[in-house]
Amino acid sequence: MRKITKAVFPVAGLGSRFLPATKAQPKEMLPIVDKPLIQYAVEEAVEAGITEMVFITGRNKRAIEDHFDKAYELESELEAAGKEALLDLVRNVIPKNINCIYIRQPAALGLGHAVLCARPVIGDDPFAVLLADDLMDADIGQASVMAQMTKAYEQEGGSIIAVQDVPREFTRQYGIVSGSPYQDRLEKVHGIIEKPMPDVAPSTLAVVGRYILSGRIFSYLEKLGKGSGGEIQLTDGIAAMLKDFPVYAYRAAATRYDCGSKLGYLKASVALGLKHKETGEEFAEYLKSIR
Ligand code: UTP
Repeated sequence: MRKITKAVFPVAGLGSRFLPATKAQPKEMLPIVDKPLIQYAVEEAVEAGITEMVFITGRNKRAIEDHFDKAYELESELEAAGKEALLDLVRNVIPKNINCIYIRQPAALGLGHAVLCARPVIGDDPFAVLLADDLMDADIGQASVMAQMTKAYEQEGGSIIAVQDVPREFTRQYGIVSGSPYQDRLEKVHGIIEKPMPDVAPSTLAVVGRYILSGRIFSYLEKLGKGSGGEIQLTDGIAAMLKDFPVYAYRAAATRYDCGSKLGYLKASVALGLKHKETGEEFAEYLKSIR
C-alpha cells in the first residue's frame, strides 16, 4: 500500500456565501479564534503524516501563500522587540519538513476541476483532499479526521470519503452516498449523487470535505462535462470511478462545522473559543451572562 504523502487543498472557490468578507480575501483565511481555517486543515494533514501540501488557488488567494511563507519584516521586528513567544508562533505556522506547492485554477469551474489541476504534481499516487471551509473538530481522544482516514486507508486501500449523517431536509446541500455496511465506521459505496432533493436522496449520509482518492480519479475527472450547478463536480468523478474501483465511506469521529456558511462559522467560533486555553474560561462566563 502506498503511503499518503500529498494533500490537495482546493481554495479557489468564490466564497460568495461570505461576501463582503470574501471580496478581497479568501474565505480560508477567516480566523476561528486565532488561526485561519486553512491552518486548521494543514495541521490536520500534518498529523496524518502528510508532507506535500498542494494548494489550488485562484484570484485573491495571495494571503494563503504569504501565511505559509517566511515573514521577514514581521520576524525581524518581533526579534528586535524581544517578543520571543510571538516570534515562535509566526515561525512555526508550518513545520520545517513540509513543502507547499501552489497551482492556479484559471477559473472557478468547480471542485472536480480544481482537483484535476493537481494532476501534474500528484501523478498516479493516492492523495488526500481537504476542504478547509469544513472545519473538522475530532472527538475527544480521537486523532485528526485525516489521520483517522489514512489509518482506514492503510487497512483497506481504495478511495475513502468522509461522511456524516444529516437530517433528510438538508440532502440538497451535499453529495449523498448510498452504500452497505462494511466494517466498524466504513460503508462500501455503491452510488454517490450531488445535492439530491430530500424525496429522491438515496440516504442521509452526506459527504464532508475530506477525501483519500486513488490517482485513477484524474482519468475520470477529465472525461466529465458540467454537472450540478454548471460546475465540474468531484462527486461525478467519484461516481464514475466507483463502477470500476472500490470506494468506501468513512463515518468521521468528529464534529463538522460548515465554515463556508455564516451560521456554521459562528458555531465553530463558539465551540473552539470555549476550548481555547486563553479564552475558554472567560468566554464561558460571558456566554452564561448573556443568556
Ligand atoms: P463551495 O461549494 O463551498 O464553493 O466549494 P465556494 O465558491 O468556495 O463558496 P460559495 O458557495 O460561493 O459560498 C467547495 C470547495 O471547493 C473549492 C472551494 O474553495 C471550497 O473549498 N472550489 C470550488 C475550488 O477550489 N474551485 C472551484 O472552482 C470551486
